[in-house]
Amino acid sequence: MEMKKIVSIVGSNNKNSVTNLVMFELLNNIKSQNESYEYEIICLSDYNIKYCEGCEVCFKQGFCPIDKKDDFAIIRKKLKEANIIFFASPVYVHNVSGIMKTFFDRFAVSCHLLNFAGKLGFTLTTTYSNGQEKVKLYLKDLQNSIGVKNLNNYVFSRATDSIDEFIETNTKIFFKEIELNYGYTDRYLEKKFNQFKYMYGQIDRKNLSINEINIYEWEYWNQKWIKECRSFQEFAVKNK
Ligand SMILES: Cc1cc2nc3c(=O)[nH]c(=O)nc-3n(C[C@H](O)[C@H](O)[C@H](O)COP(=O)(O)O)c2cc1C
Repeated sequence: MEMKKIVSIVGSNNKNSVTNLVMFELLNNIKSQNESYEYEIICLSDYNIKYCEGCEVCFKQGFCPIDKKDDFAIIRKKLKEANIIFFASPVYVHNVSGIMKTFFDRFAVSCHLLNFAGKLGFTLTTTYSNGQEKVKLYLKDLQNSIGVKNLNNYVFSRATDSIDEFIETNTKIFFKEIELNYGYTDRYLEKKFNQFKYMYGQIDRKNLSINEINIYEWEYWNQKWIKECRSFQEFAVKNK
């Protein structure tokens, strides 16, 4: 039996986090119905994640100087080992929580590399009653931006939803999405992949500074194995 690993990022500082509870109940139910799934929930509040300092070393050299000082690299490694990624955030003042945004800022270079290609994604937004559309779309956009194929975006509204019903319905939706899914790509990811490949492929290395292109990113997109990929799907399979 091939195990499928789900890694979920939960962005709440609340010790009695609703987002964490809903996430746990959902993943636990998924696992109890299909033993081939294993999961890990990463509560960002249990980790030390520092603010991005805006140095742009990640764009230019491919590493983050703060990675040595906090836990971001540990989490990134866990996400790299996942088959399925969940991003879960409460709505705080009509947006994602601060801790979630701090975490996403550290992902900036991945948005230029699509280096989580080959993974499937879901999101969970919890709210009292409003702000969920904006947060849901943002979480989805973040998954797409790092190359994850997003399959569904759950919203739990405390004002109207019962947790038991929510878990039952959305466990079924989860299995349906996985069953109906084919491949690691969609139109958006193909378009994004082609744009990056074309843009970096057009520019001569000696003209990088004229075009304000970061060397690390240029070298990444000009690697032979990536240049040879004719589609995002091919890139995703090789990147996995
Ligand atoms: C600082 C803060 C801001 C919030 N802002 C909103 C909001 O704009 N709209 C809303 O409907 N609920 C809002 N809520 C309610 C939370 O979205 C909701 O209770 C959520 O499930 C909390 O998740 P958590 O316990 O995992 O942090 C807010 C809660 C907090 C603590």
